[in-house]
Amino acid sequence: LASSSTYTVPPTVLLLGPEGAGKTSLLTLFERGDDGPAPTHTTQTTQAVELSASVDSESRTSFRNHDDTSGTHTKFLMVDTPGHGKLRNVAMGKLARTEKLRALVFVVDAAALGEQDVLAQTAGYLHDVLLFLQKRATDQKSGAAKAGRIPVLIAANKMDLFTALPSTLVKTNLEAELTRIRATRSKGLLDSGVGMDEVGSEEQDGWLGEYGSEKFSFKQMQEFDIDVEVLPGNVTGDGPGADKWWWWIAQKI
Ligand code: GTP
Repeated sequence: LASSSTYTVPPTVLLLGPEGAGKTSLLTLFERGDDGPAPTHTTQTTQAVELSASVDSESRTSFRNHDDTSGTHTKFLMVDTPGHGKLRNVAMGKLARTEKLRALVFVVDAAALGEQDVLAQTAGYLHDVLLFLQKRATDQKSGAAKAGRIPVLIAANKMDLFTALPSTLVKTNLEAELTRIRATRSKGLLDSGVGMDEVGSEEQDGWLGEYGSEKFSFKQMQEFDIDVEVLPGNVTGDGPGADKWWWWIAQKI
């Protein structure tokens, strides 16, 4: 039964990220193509849209629910999740339960990341997502669930706004904040009164990236077979648009 159900489930790409980053806007843009994104409001549940993508160079930039006439398109589901902190369990639950998860797109608001509270909130969420994937990868190595490696795209959105940080800065700012977060959280573990013998493995399990390293970098996730890439774009306004993200997705499904 398990195999027959996995056969019918299309590959899935999950949209995650803090509230207001632009997840729903991006989903509607991909769904509607040239008609542009639809107006959105706060997402409260997950919603899925069926799309098809191709790695054909001709359809490199065409995103829409087009009928496949060439036979080169792959159907996949794109699933939007709520970004609100109070609904984090909904998004993390979807992450844990999605069958045939092929890729994660973590949308961030590059125009707001210069503000320390937005950076901290965004990086905190990203930390939890990456740590989840890391734990899943290590479980897999030790012979548990076979989940496959899941690449992560950090979509640095809102590049149309003049306050937007360039994607190189989005990357380094997130890495710096993740460095801080992982140090704070491991101190929390040490202070939690876990017995001295257990500290080693407990702490290691909760530590994102290369254990004991001074600075976190996304490269460290490669040790767990997790590729993390930061690419700039925008859903509305003038800018690079969403082509790079779409192309990244087309190659992962
Ligand atoms: P939640 O549903 O709360 O998780 O938010 P979300 O990530 O789905 O964000 P949503 O798509 O609702 O977008 C939030 C706001 O950002 C909306 O007003 C969008 O129009 C706006 N927005 C999205 N993408 C862009 C962009 O590329 N540039 C600009 N300037 N605004 C954008």
